Formats: sequence, C-alpha cells, structure tokens
Amino acid sequence: IERTISIVKPDAVGKNVIGKIYDRFESNGLKIVAAKMKHLSRREAEGFYAVHKERPFFGELVDFMISGPVMIQVLEGENAVAKNREIMGATNPANADEGTIRKDFADSVGENAVHGSDSAENAAIEIAYFFAETEICPRTR
Ligand code: GTP
Ligand code: MG
Repeated sequence: IERTISIVKPDAVGKNVIGKIYDRFESNGLKIVAAKMKHLSRREAEGFYAVHKERPFFGELVDFMISGPVMIQVLEGENAVAKNREIMGATNPANADEGTIRKDFADSVGENAVHGSDSAENAAIEIAYFFAETEICPRTR
C-alpha cells in the first residue's frame, strides 16, 4: 500500500469541482486518508515547488498556486503514485487522454487543475510538508 499527495489547484477549486475530482480518486480505488483546504502563503508555495526554482515558469507557478485556496489530500492505495498520475493525465491538458482530470477540468499547462507526486520518494517529502503523521487516518482494514 502506497501513499501520494494530491492537490486540487486554485483553478479547479474556483470551478467548484472538488467533489467531481474526489470521485475520480474513489472510483479508481484510491482512498482519501487526510485532507485540508488551505490558502498557501508565497513562502509555502515556493518551498513546495523548490525543485522548479530555476524553471522559467516558476514565478507564474507560484503566483497561480497562491491565487486562491487549494485542497490538499493524501491518497492511499496500491501503486497510488502511478495510479494518481494516470487519473490526472498529462501536464498539458491539450495532451491529456480522454477521461482524465486534466482533460476534463484543466485550461492550460499552467492552470492544470491538480498536482500529484511524481515518485514514492517525493510523495513522502510532500506529505510531510503539509501533514503531521497524526493527521493521517489509514483505512486499511
Ligand atoms: P505537478 O503535478 O503540478 O507537479 O505537475 P507535473 O508533474 O505534471 O508537471 P511538472 O512537475 O513538470 O510541472 C509542475 C507544474 O508547473 C505543472 O503542473 C504546471 O502547473 C506548471 N508548469 C509546467 N510547465 C509550465 C509552463 O510551461 N508554464 C507555466 N505557466 N506553468 C508550467
Ligand atoms: Mg511534478
């Protein structure tokens, strides 16, 4: 059983589709084991995306991520990292497969509805960035 971080970005929160996005996770066997809504500070967003600091779009990315509240969740399930990436679709919605979150809810490569960890190692770092272990409620029976 693996865990990953998912973030519903400000564009999708603004479109009022948090529930529709949660349905994609649940329908695909991923369980939400922690969640919080938060309006990130600039420092928090810069820290979270520190790996992209040198990319030309870093400033735009941070401005976007603090433009409104985000919904942050820990997803748990078999191959949760890869499964979530599959459900999300390609970074650029123009290249995203039919039926993916980004195909259905994203407008552009910048405003692309969701974030998902890209490896189990990064997932652990990103989960610790937003959640204390005591805030996570494993539902493995
Ligand atoms: P995340 O799950 O958000 O990490 O997306 P990703 O892993 O599919 O993409 P990547 O890590 O390469 O880029 C991180 C985020 O930067 C993307 O989700 C976009 O929001 C943003 N981004 C990537 N490329 C561009 C770009 O060319 N322009 C702008 N404005 N933003 C970009
Ligand atoms: Mg990424």
